[in-house]
Amino acid sequence: AKEPVRVLVTGAAGQIGYALVPMIARGVMLGPDQPVILHMLDIPPAAESLNGVKMELVDAAFPLLKGVVATTDVVEACTGVNIAIMVGGFPRKEGMERKDVMSKNVSIYKSQASALEKHAAANCKVLVVANPANTNALILKEFAPSIPEKNITCLTRLDHNRALGQISERLNVQVSDVKNVIIWGNHSSTQYPDVNHATVKTQGGEKPVKELVSDDEWLKGEFITTVQQRGAAIIKARKLSSALSAASAACDHIRDWVLGTPAGTWVSMGVYSDGSYNVPVGLIYSFPVTCCNGEWTIVQGLQIDEFSRRKLDATAAELSEEKALAYSCLS
Ligand code: NAI
Repeated sequence: AKEPVRVLVTGAAGQIGYALVPMIARGVMLGPDQPVILHMLDIPPAAESLNGVKMELVDAAFPLLKGVVATTDVVEACTGVNIAIMVGGFPRKEGMERKDVMSKNVSIYKSQASALEKHAAANCKVLVVANPANTNALILKEFAPSIPEKNITCLTRLDHNRALGQISERLNVQVSDVKNVIIWGNHSSTQYPDVNHATVKTQGGEKPVKELVSDDEWLKGEFITTVQQRGAAIIKARKLSSALSAASAACDHIRDWVLGTPAGTWVSMGVYSDGSYNVPVGLIYSFPVTCCNGEWTIVQGLQIDEFSRRKLDATAAELSEEKALAYSCLS
């Protein structure tokens, strides 16, 4: 039998946490033959509620779940973890300045980075979900210098999956037959959902999305804005932000990273830029990646037309600005 993998979920008493921990305990993230030990962290005001989640995990009698640590102590939470899903953060409240929210999250991610650096298992893989996701991940990277930068990522898979969903609905095809959309850049409304290289499996073979959706205006307009603003549309409808889809995307992200992407398929992940596609080095930016043996690689050589270039640059500019704001909170 396999040794259990220790998975940390921060903010585990929150909405996404509540959807995510049962998925992990059922093997959705790491596979149906991989036992797990869940480490759940939240802050003291949420301690009682966190304990309630722990009680429910016991009550669910998940066969793969070999243990649960529920704590408000960062060191206890981080000790020995192989995978860290960072969902906890400070939300933007009405009337708050962007800088104030940034400042709160910078200090959270700085201290949690130090705890992971000191206490996580070697080669721990980190996924930051909490917003501003790319910049929180960058701060985490800065303050956990012994964790390889390749191990620190942020979630844009939800945006990627939303793009697949929109194409599937538009063409009335199965979502599982659509692949290779790309989310470039920030997990924010400046992200660029790109279908220039996406394909659909049809009875006549694989066809480009651009050929099947002949309406270029839709692809360059409404499609992009729908994906960019889907988070706000969910809040409007549910009066709460996306949770089940975010949790599911977090599982997809880790599963593909650890177990590999299918041949011929890429996914979107926020990763530390190496300068590919002329994206500035030093940003956590969403790229198309393939994964093999637990490592991601940015897909190279894709043609970037002028329309796309502008969009890649605009979202990079926003990330550079966010980075500067985050650094100004450090001093
Ligand atoms: P929530 O407010 O329901 O839960 C957040 C939890 O984090 C709360 O239980 C809170 O007590 C906890 N928390 C706050 N500070 C903490 C700290 N220092 N350490 C540990 N836990 C802490 O929020 P929800 O809906 O679960 O969303 C969580 C985050 O995920 C938000 O930042 C949200 O914006 C982000 N998000 C990101 C998505 C993505 O695609 N990257 C998609 C959807 C949400």
